[in-house]
Amino acid sequence: MRIAAIAPLLLACALFANPANAQGDAANGKDLSYTCLGCHGIAGYRNAYPSYRVPKLGGQKAAYLIDALKGYRDGLRRHPTMQAQAVSLTDQEMEDIAAYLVTLGSETIASGGTEGASLERAQVCVACHGQNGISVNPMWPSLAGQHEEYLVHALNQYRSGERSQAVMYAQAQSLTDEDVAILARYYARLSGLETTEPEE
Ligand code: HEC
Ligand code: HEC
Repeated sequence: MRIAAIAPLLLACALFANPANAQGDAANGKDLSYTCLGCHGIAGYRNAYPSYRVPKLGGQKAAYLIDALKGYRDGLRRHPTMQAQAVSLTDQEMEDIAAYLVTLGSETIASGGTEGASLERAQVCVACHGQNGISVNPMWPSLAGQHEEYLVHALNQYRSGERSQAVMYAQAQSLTDEDVAILARYYARLSGLETTEPEE
């Protein structure tokens, strides 16, 4: 009886002791991010084909960044350049990079208001992506300030199933081309995510 009662506790301790749950080292993440910001930190930098702006990462949610990198590494999310970048990173390096990038946004300025709820089409998005496009859970990406073209690209990938993720696939099925255009324009104009130049 007693052992059975203690077992869940031991399991919980083991989970907390797991190095995968350790905090990322932002200083190391800054060094590692140098090459990344060679694309992500250059204003106006574009993916060649199809042509769209490289997504902003400054201020993006840490758990989402890690999840996205693992998605590329494991081939769940397909993009040749990003897959090549991600296969060379360890889990710890991904956490370090995320710990650095999360500090680069303007989330503190954007939080607190109710702008996000004012657009009718965004009502359903608010539950996860937040009132101001600053997501309410670190596993879900913030949208505020993201490039309009990238948001269009991402939503269309969910609509077609090319980027397969169950939650967003379901959300995207009811969206028309017009909805996508309006939502992308709307979120791109909120403040939050930043393009951050690599520092020497
Ligand atoms: C050669 C340019 C280039 C380099 C270098 C690069 N990326 Fe990317 N990255 C892209 C492009 C383009 C996309 C969008 C891919 C897509 O549509 O899925 C992207 C997407 C991402 C995403 C997903 C963003 C989101 O909102 O879902 C993350 C996270 C990311 N990159 C992190 C990194 C990290 C970390 C590095 C460095 C280790 C890096 N990238 C290096 C071009 C680059
Ligand atoms: C139930 C929660 C939920 C709702 C509601 C929701 N999303 Fe999402 N959204 C997510 C999650 C989780 C992801 C990350 C999926 C992945 O890993 O590909 C995501 C990803 C996205 C992305 C990709 C961001 C990036 O950086 O690549 C966009 C764009 C997006 N959502 C827009 C919307 C819009 C617009 C709505 C409303 C029509 C909406 N979402 C509703 C949970 C939600």
